[in-house]
Amino acid sequence: MSANDLNYEPMVFSPKTKGERSLSDIQKEILSLKKERNAVILAHNYQIEAIQEIADFVGDSLGLAYNAEATDADIIVFCGVHFMAETAKIVNPNKTVLLPDLDAGCSLSDSCPEKKLEAYKQANPEVYVVAYINCSAGVKALSDVICTSGNAKKIVDRVPKEKEILFVPDQNLGKWVSEQTGRPMQLWPGSCYAHVLFTQNAIERLKAKFPSALVVAHPECVQTVRDNADIVCSTEKMVHFCKDSQSESFIIITETGMIHRLQREIPEKTFIAGPTDSCACNECRFMKMNTIEKLRNCLRDLTPEIELPADLTKRAYMPLKRMLDWSK
Ligand code: 13P
Ligand code: SF4
Repeated sequence: MSANDLNYEPMVFSPKTKGERSLSDIQKEILSLKKERNAVILAHNYQIEAIQEIADFVGDSLGLAYNAEATDADIIVFCGVHFMAETAKIVNPNKTVLLPDLDAGCSLSDSCPEKKLEAYKQANPEVYVVAYINCSAGVKALSDVICTSGNAKKIVDRVPKEKEILFVPDQNLGKWVSEQTGRPMQLWPGSCYAHVLFTQNAIERLKAKFPSALVVAHPECVQTVRDNADIVCSTEKMVHFCKDSQSESFIIITETGMIHRLQREIPEKTFIAGPTDSCACNECRFMKMNTIEKLRNCLRDLTPEIELPADLTKRAYMPLKRMLDWSK
């Protein structure tokens, strides 16, 4: 198949002229509710543009965890998925943490149920569990240390050499970190349903149309995609890489919402959405459950709220705190 055979129109985000975009009525309403409630809005890079525009902080899982820990607001409204809001609650148990849609889960997190990990640990008590932050509070509580895609290498490098590492739940990120660190690991067989949809074949067909564009991929992608990318990194590092690079255009192999952040920070460059075999872009259905209306409603009604048993919060905090300390 050649580039001419693309079965979709590539999604190209051309350079933007800088300028203030006026806020919609509902965005203004959210900002006024936020002030009234003394709330902070934290948003992941994959959220819709209207949410990113009014968030106090937009970033990757690591930046969001630090911001959740540091905030002095009374209420944290977390625009992301459930495990991220849970993380905010774990580092800040006395604050109210709201998630606009409580059903905004994560297939990767679901691929490692707490009970299964518990059984595995009972059968293999010697393992040192490094858990990617995309997991439930229950799984965090069973882990020795947490990592994100932004600090995974740094964290694994700190694990005592004599320990046998079990990396959960993402086998793709785990394999990548193992290659980066030279550290053999047992890999939990989980994956992100959205990132595994990117194929090298689809990327090559797009690349033939945009030969000078650099390929920027998330480590949750499969090995062939990672091996052929110009860089593999977390969503936050994508911003730095594209800013610092001499290149003018980039194919972004991660959830398409990332391009809003890139365009806001680097309006003078061109970003092309990463393709799957059948589609020009790739959205995470869980991330997209948060809408601007649900964000307004949750700030107005102070629900849905993340609630966690105190003992679970305590147990999940220890490996999370270790990550925050090791990653400074
Ligand atoms: P980042 O930590 O790179 O933002 O990734 C989070 C995520 O869910 C990727 O699918
Ligand atoms: Fe989870 Fe994948 Fe969505 Fe990230 S993109 S939140 S890993 S399902």
